Amino acid sequence: MTSQAQKFWEEKYKDKLKLSPKLFPESSEDKMLVNLLGNVAGKEILEIGCGNGYISLYLAKNGAKVTAIDFSQNSVEKTLNLAKNHELEIEAYQLNALELRKLNKKFDIVVGKFILHHIEPFEEFSLCLSASLKKGGRGIFIENNSRNPILIIARNNLVGKFGIPKYGDDEEYPFEPREIELLKHDVGNVNLYYPNFVFFKKINTYIFKNNQKFKLFMNMFKGLDDLIKNYLPIFHKYSYTQVVEILKQ
Ligand SMILES: C[S@@+](CC[C@H](N)C(=O)[O-])C[C@H]1O[C@@H](n2cnc3c(N)ncnc32)[C@H](O)[C@@H]1O
Repeated sequence: MTSQAQKFWEEKYKDKLKLSPKLFPESSEDKMLVNLLGNVAGKEILEIGCGNGYISLYLAKNGAKVTAIDFSQNSVEKTLNLAKNHELEIEAYQLNALELRKLNKKFDIVVGKFILHHIEPFEEFSLCLSASLKKGGRGIFIENNSRNPILIIARNNLVGKFGIPKYGDDEEYPFEPREIELLKHDVGNVNLYYPNFVFFKKINTYIFKNNQKFKLFMNMFKGLDDLIKNYLPIFHKYSYTQVVEILKQ
């Protein structure tokens, strides 16, 4: 059965022949992911929720043996086109993250960007992830974070109303601490990293829609986030973005 979320992403990637010019690594979170990956040459790596395929492309370019999955067929075709265009080998399949067992393979590393918070029931996924990792393998994910109560109140009451845009689908919810506990229970130790502090910058995205007319205010909000990033580590766990590293025991 196709869910509302699956239809939403199928529509987003419908222009499957248009290759994404997206750079990777670009953000601080991307760079942290790359840093945690280390040398990927020869490693079996799975990307979950590959979207436009640019992370899988980066991995293949650097010599990894890449498998990519997404429940959107259009996304899978985009990823395959991207690989073909760069004369690189990527295996890509339309598959729900809850069906990883169908790949019949264990990986050295499983990666994903803004995917974990889409997967439900997470209890089921956590066990699937564990079964897909080799002993000593790692899961490395760039994720959002539900720990900041102010962002959750804004998300529940403002997004999609009063002219404030809604970027995601109706079923997703920011990644929760209870889901981190499940990963610890089912897979192994979890490390959380905050290479960026994202809170006030959300005003730039949602209210100012990154319009350069508001550059002065946008710089001010970015400055506030940078201040917290540089001097107030106690607040880092409230950042909207985080990097989650899971070590399979
Ligand atoms: C926010 S997008 C991120 C895409 C890509 N990782 C990126 O950073 O551009 C989420 C992606 O996950 C896919 N997705 C969502 N839920 C999924 C599930 N249960 N199984 C497989 N893919 C899923 C969507 O089709 C979409 O491509």
